Amino acid sequence: MGRTASYPPGAGHPSGAAPGLRTAIAGVGMIGRVHLDAVRRTGAPVVGVSASSPARAKEAAAALGVEHAYDSSEELVTSDDVDVVHICTPNDAHAPLAELALRAGKHVVCEKPLTTSPESAATLAALARETGLVAAVPFVYRYHPMAAEARARAADGRTGEIRLVHGHYLQDWLSEPGDTNWRVDAVAGGPSRAFADIGSHWCDLVEWVTGHRITELTALTQTVDRAGGRPATEDAVQLLFRTDRGATGTLTVSQISPGRKNRLWFEVDGTRTSLAFDQEAPESLFVGSRGENGAVLRDPATLSPAAARLSVVPGGHPMGYLDCFAAFVRDVHDTVRAGGPRRTTPLYPTFDDAARMVRLTAAVLGSAADRTWKEVD
Ligand SMILES: NC(=O)c1ccc[n+]([C@@H]2O[C@H](COP(=O)([O-])OP(=O)(O)OC[C@H]3O[C@@H](n4cnc5c(N)ncnc54)[C@H](O)[C@@H]3O)[C@@H](O)[C@H]2O)c1
Repeated sequence: MGRTASYPPGAGHPSGAAPGLRTAIAGVGMIGRVHLDAVRRTGAPVVGVSASSPARAKEAAAALGVEHAYDSSEELVTSDDVDVVHICTPNDAHAPLAELALRAGKHVVCEKPLTTSPESAATLAALARETGLVAAVPFVYRYHPMAAEARARAADGRTGEIRLVHGHYLQDWLSEPGDTNWRVDAVAGGPSRAFADIGSHWCDLVEWVTGHRITELTALTQTVDRAGGRPATEDAVQLLFRTDRGATGTLTVSQISPGRKNRLWFEVDGTRTSLAFDQEAPESLFVGSRGENGAVLRDPATLSPAAARLSVVPGGHPMGYLDCFAAFVRDVHDTVRAGGPRRTTPLYPTFDDAARMVRLTAAVLGSAADRTWKEVD
């Protein structure tokens, strides 16, 4: 009997719409608008937004076609009319808003870095566990199908024992003397900038792909004098590390690399094959061996099930960053509908994962300050 072909062949299917999950978004700058698009793609309503002032919230709500403009983010995260809140504000507002939201019984999606200190991250992660609510952080590079394919190949033995992990995350938007942003400010942004902002994404992704944990590290940081001598946070980090399973690694993180826009790249070298993934060219995964080298293309018909589930259009129809966010929000909604993380194992990155990245960030800053190796639990 012939096999019935599906179109797209073998593709993962987005879960159904979640009309009941009323969502509100605190902060609708660059990433808040990406969250808004992702929520709408699930079919759930975005019922309200907040901004840095009531007037800006009204403007944003009108521009984005959202019904309600909250006067403050505090009002938004505690509103009776909301089931899921997304916190997309500058970093220093994450912890207080996430705590208020959890205490008000809301499911929370909070942007990274979860908080600006390891202590507050631990407190928040513990609170999230106590409540049994969904508490998710969009380390969304995990949602690229070919990154998921790398994870599947590392887990099923095709890669062999992992010996080396290396790569970089490079941007250029702070490379010129006049460049600035709230992220540069150590209060709004927190004590780490480049590492907390993008290094944490790389480490989360690489730990997720390999199943290894970074346990020891030493770091060098570099800070550009952009503020006329005022204290500023680091623009670049160079990191040397060991993992709990005996691999060694290096990472360069920079927001001052001209021409590099969002170059997150990693390579994992195992005893059988090497795997390399480039976030700016996410439709393929380099798979190298002594005998044969090549790019494995995203094709849901041939990928591992965990990668095929994220691959919602056929190969040759490029997917990207916005699709990662949509898949992440679908996982959040699926877990809410399943009764929360006590009823089903969450597939999304949790507050515990994000708290680990805050601890790693503190170890990086500590190592650079002391010129020593630091252990990370
Ligand atoms: N997961 C990712 O891939 C990703 C990507 C980019 C940014 N982020 C994170 O998202 C957050 C926002 O970054 P962004 O790039 O959108 O910055 P942004 O500057 O574009 O937007 C932040 C917005 O928040 C508003 N705001 C300030 N205080 C507020 C408050 N109390 N309540 C509501 N709104 C407030 C600002 O006016 C601004 O419009 C940061 O924590 C950042 O680290 C994550």
